[in-house]
Amino acid sequence: MRKISIAIDGPAAAGKSTVAKIIAEKLNYIYIDTGAMYRALTYKAIMNNIDFNSERELISLLKETKIELLPSDEGQLIYLDGKDVTTEIRTSEVTNSVSTVSMHKLVREEMVRRQQSFGLDGGVVMDGRDIGTHVLPQAEVKVFLLASVEERAARRHVENVNKGFSSDLEQLKQEIANRDKLDSEREIAPLKKADDAVEMDTTSLSIHQVVDKIMSLVDERI
Ligand code: C5P
Repeated sequence: MRKISIAIDGPAAAGKSTVAKIIAEKLNYIYIDTGAMYRALTYKAIMNNIDFNSERELISLLKETKIELLPSDEGQLIYLDGKDVTTEIRTSEVTNSVSTVSMHKLVREEMVRRQQSFGLDGGVVMDGRDIGTHVLPQAEVKVFLLASVEERAARRHVENVNKGFSSDLEQLKQEIANRDKLDSEREIAPLKKADDAVEMDTTSLSIHQVVDKIMSLVDERI
């Protein structure tokens, strides 16, 4: 069976990584969480007191940074320069700064270059904001996941509470809306549905319904 590339884009907390992981597992494909790569750089920038507005400082930091995405039983582990930062990159400090770090052209070019090298042979499910438009424009299946801000904040809130993290629903709504605005309005590779992507509003769908819909698109292309 031929191995294809699957691009899953959409706004913050739309369930992209949850469905991407399930699909990658079903197909025995690799899963690449591109947001985790921008988060890892942001975390390192925070640790090194780098100015998020300085493209020059961020790109030289990135050039000397190793980011690895390693599969594990609990999902994907993110290693930064050989150290596991899977939990650290999800803090609100990182979440609230990552959209500023990811705005810069040179940072994006380097990240896209690394992401494309993972997807060279197909057999990849990649999620992010610009996968269908820039990273894998040739992907056989492109999906753009949407859900209302209220629904996305509510899902993230439940996730946080289940993990034992403190969580404020109103604050989550604000943070998600703010990140969407920055990601959609940036100049370079903004969050945008590719012309040939299939849009899915998941507001009233379960994870399994979304997975089934994407799998039927995959079946048509394999
Ligand atoms: O997917 P996640 O919410 O973890 O992404 C974190 C941030 O990384 C996004 O809000 C966006 O600023 C940036 N990002 C990006 N392009 C991608 C993936 C993520 O700009 N392909």
